[in-house]
Amino acid sequence: MPYALITGASKGIGYAIAHELASRGNHILAVARSSELLEKLCIELEQKYGVEAKALAIDLTGEGAASAVFNWCADLNAPVTILVNNAGYGLWGRFEDLSLPEQQNMLRLNMGSLVSLTHLFLPLLRENEPSYILNVSGVIAHQPVATMSLYAASKSFVLSFSRGLRRELRDTKVKVSCLSPGPTATDFTKRARMEAMEALAEKFNMTAKKVAKMAVNGMYKGKAEIVPGGLNVLSVLLAKLVPTSLAEKFASDLYEKRLPKESGE
Ligand SMILES: NC(=O)c1ccc[n+]([C@@H]2O[C@H](COP(=O)([O-])OP(=O)(O)OC[C@H]3O[C@@H](n4cnc5c(N)ncnc54)[C@H](OP(=O)(O)O)[C@@H]3O)[C@@H](O)[C@H]2O)c1
Repeated sequence: MPYALITGASKGIGYAIAHELASRGNHILAVARSSELLEKLCIELEQKYGVEAKALAIDLTGEGAASAVFNWCADLNAPVTILVNNAGYGLWGRFEDLSLPEQQNMLRLNMGSLVSLTHLFLPLLRENEPSYILNVSGVIAHQPVATMSLYAASKSFVLSFSRGLRRELRDTKVKVSCLSPGPTATDFTKRARMEAMEALAEKFNMTAKKVAKMAVNGMYKGKAEIVPGGLNVLSVLLAKLVPTSLAEKFASDLYEKRLPKESGE
């Protein structure tokens, strides 16, 4: 049976992707920081789907973390055929007001860890073809957004990198897909300290379960980019059709106007 490695599997979209992939007969290798949540997930997956599920609790922003994940999989002798780079978070606020170390940590997770894991696992994925890489970006990748400048840029990086890599690998049986969700009901807003955005997000939120199902369907079909939900598809389309200055003003207004005064001064 194939093995799927999922980062950020302890909750939210990664947790739902773990369930979705296990329900389709994949053994699961679950990675995140919260060991208790991961252990609980593994028990659920083993009981519900009869697959093997193993957990590694690790902070992926730490020095050598990607190598530690790779060595863990090697020690388990697990033939990984699916790599889901999902772990990530956002920070809301003006660039100059947010702490630099915090922002750098976000970049290490959203970009650095994803790149390292992809580079380390690619030879194994080539050996185990057909295989899949699913990188998690967001609809925010499609235009710059004031007060989410670095987060949006990190997700543009994920989208661009995924599409470039996909093209490099087009003659192999390693399919690279990028998932670009819009607002999804998870702990994302809490970690990004976006309580003031929650009322708006709730109007548009999709469930992580629905996003995961569409993500896994798209991944198996080898889609370049998976944008779950009609409204999100429309927003991506509009961002491509209208002048960049207009798309970035529209998206920025949504966030900038709701930023609590004390974070903006
Ligand atoms: N929710 C949305 O509206 C939305 C929209 C677009 C894109 N996304 C993207 O979707 C992905 C998943 O986010 P989510 O919405 O599911 O948020 P979430 O519920 O906060 O889940 C984030 C996951 O990443 C893990 N994680 C965070 N920091 C980590 C670290 N340093 N090392 C290892 N694991 C870490 C978390 O586990 P631990 O805390 O246990 O480490 C958790 O499993 C992210 O890349 C996010 O940018 C989310």
